[in-house]
Amino acid sequence: MSTFSEETRRRRTFAIISHPDAGKTTLTEQLLLKGGAIQLAGTVKSRKSARYATSDWMEMEKQRGISITSSVMQFKYADKIINLLDTPGHADFSEDTYRTLTAVDSALMVIDVAKGVEDRTRKLMEVCRMRNTPIITFINKLDREGQTPLELFDEIERELNIQCVPMTWPAGMGASAKGVYHIHRKQFLPWARGNADKGSQPAPIDADDDAGLREWLGDDKDTLFEEIEFMREVCPDFDEAAFRRGEQTPVFFGSALRNFGVSECLDYVSDHAPGPIEHQTKDRVVRPEEENFSGFVFKIQANMDPAHRDRIAFLRVCSGTYRKGMKIHHVRQGRDIQIANAMTLMAGDREQVEDAYPGDIIGLYNHGAIQVGDTFTQGEKLKFTGIPHFAPEMFRRVRLKDPLKTKSLHKGVNELCEEGATQVFRPQLSNDIILGAVGVLQFDVVAWRLQQEYGVDCGYESVPVATARWIYCDDAKKLDEFKRRQPENLAEDGSGALTYLAPSMVNLNLTMERWPDIEFLATREH
Ligand code: G4P
Repeated sequence: MSTFSEETRRRRTFAIISHPDAGKTTLTEQLLLKGGAIQLAGTVKSRKSARYATSDWMEMEKQRGISITSSVMQFKYADKIINLLDTPGHADFSEDTYRTLTAVDSALMVIDVAKGVEDRTRKLMEVCRMRNTPIITFINKLDREGQTPLELFDEIERELNIQCVPMTWPAGMGASAKGVYHIHRKQFLPWARGNADKGSQPAPIDADDDAGLREWLGDDKDTLFEEIEFMREVCPDFDEAAFRRGEQTPVFFGSALRNFGVSECLDYVSDHAPGPIEHQTKDRVVRPEEENFSGFVFKIQANMDPAHRDRIAFLRVCSGTYRKGMKIHHVRQGRDIQIANAMTLMAGDREQVEDAYPGDIIGLYNHGAIQVGDTFTQGEKLKFTGIPHFAPEMFRRVRLKDPLKTKSLHKGVNELCEEGATQVFRPQLSNDIILGAVGVLQFDVVAWRLQQEYGVDCGYESVPVATARWIYCDDAKKLDEFKRRQPENLAEDGSGALTYLAPSMVNLNLTMERWPDIEFLATREH
């Protein structure tokens, strides 16, 4: 086997999806500790910039250098190279969060044992659904009282439309938690609370070691095995193919904070999560084992230090090998560029990349020429699909403080929009500029960058728009009629695409009913 295919097979590229406070940061930290990428608990947490309220933007910006380097965390685990992609949460939730999910091969869903499925998880799962991303589930905070496993499974299946198959099963919860039973290894993993910080736990006890199990569990042993028996009757058998199609999720129980049950979950990612998957382009499917290099840009992050205006384009390698100094072809611009200083983004620091393989993410320095969705190849004119814009969920009208700056404002808004920092809509019946975002901090970032980079001072006003849908219709006559009859809610987005700005969800639903031949799309390809 060649080194290239070995390297490709070793890659595991995933992201953690969760609602704020479910434990994503704590779990990330545990994974990095296990991968040896950090040595000390608290390293990631103390960097957690996402907690800042919007008014603390300037403070957050000071931290930006750090959050850039923690966007992609690469570490070795067992014989694998793991790429853990950060999905911005809390206040810095943005389209980037969604788009990061287009660059992963699987996702780890963290659920709070007491709170179950929450709003943000639902949204992130919708994005995973678009590509049938395989999902591994970690039910966190087992050291607290929560819902029973079957209640949680029921909720996950009902709300997220994915079947749960337990890989581990908890013996008690909260104060009475004693460990988990590993169903496939047929071993009980005892949990001694005092050992959490040491990272060591008592040795596993085999399922047929009745005396050992009784010693640890007492009468709870019978309850545990009765529950497992019942679970076997109601849960389906695990089907690897269904997992790969995103129809079944293997479920682990544990506590990220107490470092319990996390290794089993990471072992699973390492052993069973898919390696680099194929990617669809406009014309053909690109397989990771193809020798020619190709990849797409899923995120652009501006360096917030005004002294260094560089932006970093995050490129997911889809096929072939990137080697330092090689020439790659920027398909949209039809130009070859030499990449001498691409970087990998380790948990600790930026490092220059020598080689990168399918599944890896490299950071390209960029002065504005690269846009989200751009494809890079070794010459072939490919265009990767499936890196969409997502319908914004928040809208603001831009209020310009100095009318003489109108031209700079338009230029700035267009460029920031191309970069993916926000989306812009221009209503057909007014000269308004309406910005759309999925996270509120995006508005602050745009105002700040307009001022810093384009010398434009602007504020925002609220605007009665609840959601946006891109309009599509094969039938030109019907489309014309729709445009004539609904002009007040129509706008053009940054690329000139026709968009319906709905004042409410009720209005959207009624309009969709009234115009059955018109498609109202919640995503648009770049
Ligand atoms: P997030 O990134 O998903 O937003 O969650 P984060 O890891 O920051 O965790 C949110 C809160 O939940 C934190 O408490 C964290 O310590 C706690 N937590 C995470 N995992 C567990 C667990 O397994 N058990 C318990 N009991 N708590 C857990 P906090 O008080 O909000 O923050 P901090 O003071 O600990 O930083």
